[in-house]
Amino acid sequence: MRKKIVAGNWKMNLTFEEGQQLTSEIVQMYKDEAIQEVIVVLNPPFPHLYPVKKLVGDTPGVAVGAQNCSDKESGAFTGEVSTKILASFGVSYVILGHSERREYFKEDNTLLAAKVNQVLAHGLTPIFCCGESLEIREAGTHEETVKAQLTASLFHLSPEEFSKVVIAYEPIWAIGTGKTATADQAQEMHAALRGHLASKYGQAVAAQTSILYGGSANPGNAKELFGKPDVDGGLIGGASLKSRDFIEIVKSF
Ligand code: PGA
Repeated sequence: MRKKIVAGNWKMNLTFEEGQQLTSEIVQMYKDEAIQEVIVVLNPPFPHLYPVKKLVGDTPGVAVGAQNCSDKESGAFTGEVSTKILASFGVSYVILGHSERREYFKEDNTLLAAKVNQVLAHGLTPIFCCGESLEIREAGTHEETVKAQLTASLFHLSPEEFSKVVIAYEPIWAIGTGKTATADQAQEMHAALRGHLASKYGQAVAAQTSILYGGSANPGNAKELFGKPDVDGGLIGGASLKSRDFIEIVKSF
């Protein structure tokens, strides 16, 4: 069975103290409320990663991820963070290709392919984001646009490498807008993406790939989204900053 994953993307939010408090609360609730079979991934800003990992420790089912990484192995790249550094203290996931990185930092498919390679080379799991703008959705070309993002940045991988990748479908028009894709829209897209993966890697690999939904997911809509057969979890922005909301989403399967 493929993994159910709920990843919290803190983006550029929370001070050190706030991050520590949020982490402690989430870990406590995860244990107290006996959550099982859902992997939680906390993705704070870089300076939080080490202290967050220390707090999480080896709590089964709770992992720590970065929001970005360098496409380079190591060396003179001021301001960058390599996956080798992240791996050295237990970070196990990296979000790649978020629409904010694509738009504000001009990350393109080729750069993202190099980042995917780095993440896999160090044994971490990429959470690879894809999604279309409102314009593209309205033009009706969303399926081919998003499939092309996957082809360009992931389809150079061998089936074995690809089997470690997690996909996050995040329609840009739904991110931080309060406008969620309907559960049917999410299902339709997830099924289309899984079909695209099957065309390249075969049914077995596609059936094992976790595809998360992201974009204004919250405790009120998560149950319906996660109830769809091809929706394997969520990448949660705003609602991941409140422990109770986040845990309620985690419990929505
Ligand atoms: P949101 O963000 O839940 O605040 O819409 C999701 C994301 O950008 O990953």
